[in-house]
Amino acid sequence: MKSEPLVMGIETSCDETGVGIVRGTELLADAIASSVEEQARFGGVVPEVASRAHLEAMVPTVRRALDEAGVALSDLDGIAVTAGPGLAGALMVGVGAAKAYSMATGVPLYGVNHLSAHIAVDTLENGPIPEPAIGLLVSGGHSAIMMVEDLAGEVTQLGASIDDAAGEAFDKVARLLGLPFPGGPHIDRAAREGDRAYVEFPRGLTAGKDMRRHRYDFSFSGLKTAVARWIEAQRAEGRTVPVNDVAAAFQEAVCDVLTRKAILAAKEHGVETLLLGGGVAANSRLRALAAERAEKAGILLRHPRPKLCTDNGAMVAALGSHLVAAQVPPSRMDFPANSSMDVTVVSLADDLR
Ligand code: KG4
Ligand code: ZN
Repeated sequence: MKSEPLVMGIETSCDETGVGIVRGTELLADAIASSVEEQARFGGVVPEVASRAHLEAMVPTVRRALDEAGVALSDLDGIAVTAGPGLAGALMVGVGAAKAYSMATGVPLYGVNHLSAHIAVDTLENGPIPEPAIGLLVSGGHSAIMMVEDLAGEVTQLGASIDDAAGEAFDKVARLLGLPFPGGPHIDRAAREGDRAYVEFPRGLTAGKDMRRHRYDFSFSGLKTAVARWIEAQRAEGRTVPVNDVAAAFQEAVCDVLTRKAILAAKEHGVETLLLGGGVAANSRLRALAAERAEKAGILLRHPRPKLCTDNGAMVAALGSHLVAAQVPPSRMDFPANSSMDVTVVSLADDLR
């Protein structure tokens, strides 16, 4: 078995059609087509619009990635595809395409978990992940603290959001502030000009009792409501809302809780590496605060560059390459797209877990 497998990864779980190609942990191509501009008109992702856009973009994006990498389909050692979680119709386009490419070429197929791929992408930037590692996984659909014992198949969840995901909170608060969709990058930008201490917004699940029952869990819906109430009160009194300050204070509340709990999990489990992954890991304040606190705690912090944090095909290829190198069996050709795939299932090995 090759130690540096050549793998193509296909990602269609939400609104980006991503096709990445890697050799071992080297990134050769990262082609993306996004329907986000179409989606922005609706203020969110419309599943049917996403599926159609994937259908149109799939083949051209695969061609672009192959050209960029300078390889042919027949050179590949594996094809990996996001099997879930995500939007059912959107996932089906990627899974269908990957099966077709695999059948036509005889290249083994790996149905993988989108969330594990968000963790695996870090290998493209920083090399093999020291195991065990704590993964802080923060995206539009999930916020979780993961224990990564073995990226090829053993990840467990230590805690997760009991309501909104971190990215969802960013998107909702951005909307309240009149910023465009997706809100995360806009809040990040606005917050740079704002005062983090302007308002002290609530830190969910950090009080005494909650720290016993929900030690590594998050809650962001109360925070979102608190921001909404604060904005309403300002408007009711005829004051203009200081967008930059509210963005900075909201962002601080999210990043404070995320980093505090992730570092705590690492310390309490004796784990020396903390890894950030998912779209919200692109956030500049999250990265800075995590770096500060990790250093203080003697923990090594790793994260991919911002462009690799948000959804892309390279992350799926990175996980695929890791699975091929670890000799994990490929998936059966009849595996389904699974919109609610369990966060602890890294790949659909031939036993069709
Ligand atoms: O991982 P991702 O691209 O898609 C999902 O798997 O959900 O994450 C998308 C989420 C969105 O909610 C978006 O607003 C957020 O990541 N995001 C950010 C930033 N860039 C993207 N949130 C905060 N700061 C950012 N710079
Ligand atoms: Zn994602």
